[in-house]
Amino acid sequence: MENILSGIKPTGQLTLGNYIGALKNFSKFQDENKVFVFIADLHALTLPIEPEVLNQNTKDIVAFYLACGLDPNKASIFLQSHVYEHSELGTILGNYAYMGELNRMTQFKDKASKLNEKNIGLGLFTYPVLMAADIILYDAKKVPVGEDQKQHVELARDLAIRFNHRYKKDIFVIPEPVIPTTGARIMSLSDPSKKMSKSDPKGDIFLKDDLKVARKKIMSAVTDLECEVRYDKENKPGISNLLTIYSCLKEITIEEAEKEFIGANYGTFKRAVADVVCDTLERIQTKYNEYINSDYLDEVLEKGAKEARAIASNTIKRVKACVGLYSKQ
Ligand code: TYM
Repeated sequence: MENILSGIKPTGQLTLGNYIGALKNFSKFQDENKVFVFIADLHALTLPIEPEVLNQNTKDIVAFYLACGLDPNKASIFLQSHVYEHSELGTILGNYAYMGELNRMTQFKDKASKLNEKNIGLGLFTYPVLMAADIILYDAKKVPVGEDQKQHVELARDLAIRFNHRYKKDIFVIPEPVIPTTGARIMSLSDPSKKMSKSDPKGDIFLKDDLKVARKKIMSAVTDLECEVRYDKENKPGISNLLTIYSCLKEITIEEAEKEFIGANYGTFKRAVADVVCDTLERIQTKYNEYINSDYLDEVLEKGAKEARAIASNTIKRVKACVGLYSKQ
């Protein structure tokens, strides 16, 4: 049994990319491991967000976690801001992270480049340190994430190794990212050279999308001028992205998916992709609707935070003693 941890930031509506790259995989671990799944609400503050939007997004993610099969009796589901040890370990770890390595983080460079240089928040810069704390607090060995979070998990790994080395003790478990072989980077439907992200309504499928809207987005997804359904990421990024979505949702390989569409035109292929996407959304939305307005969400979060604190407070005690922060024996 290993400790597994992952999280999602409540900055926007969840996308099919979040589902395929991360969320869909969380529940697979819960029968045989100790799973911690949280909502990175403190991370959501690193870019401007309206309070009521943050609140609603946070509730939404809890409901989607449950709708996607996470069972609070098997996994601990909680909010980052409910477990103070995240902030505490983040502060301590900040002293072991180098500004040079934080400056090299792709996500920081990408997000900072869209802001006025004078208004780049400190929280955006130190984001990966807090994320390292999220992971390390729970002795997490595996961190299931999509491709875009790999660099952050690797930084968490580097920090854990650096810390252990500094104090010549195995204080931290060394984490590693678990990236799905297919579906680790679902691309935008309107521009398949870009990642599908929470902030691109045209190219995104949102988990909350009306089924008709979702179908329309798939039917108008950018493809190419050929008419062969073949996986070729370089020359046919749009079709390759749709094949990836289809194979992940059908739980088959890309090769099996390609075989199903030999000789089919793009219209037929897109209809099949739309069918499986809409079936998936409908199944998730039905369950989401059962949970979203119920008090059960708060019960789940309370139980999850209690379980999370039990292990997080132990890690903090270990760290404080190790670095020499005084406390009564
Ligand atoms: P976030 O909220 O941006 O994304 C949540 C998860 O979804 C994956 N993902 C994708 N996978 C495939 N295709 C896509 N287009 C796509 N878009 C997003 C992400 O890789 C991620 O796994 N920093 C994290 C939240 C976080 C976290 C953590 C995760 C904070 N602390 C500790 C793991 C462990 C984030 O912003 O993810």
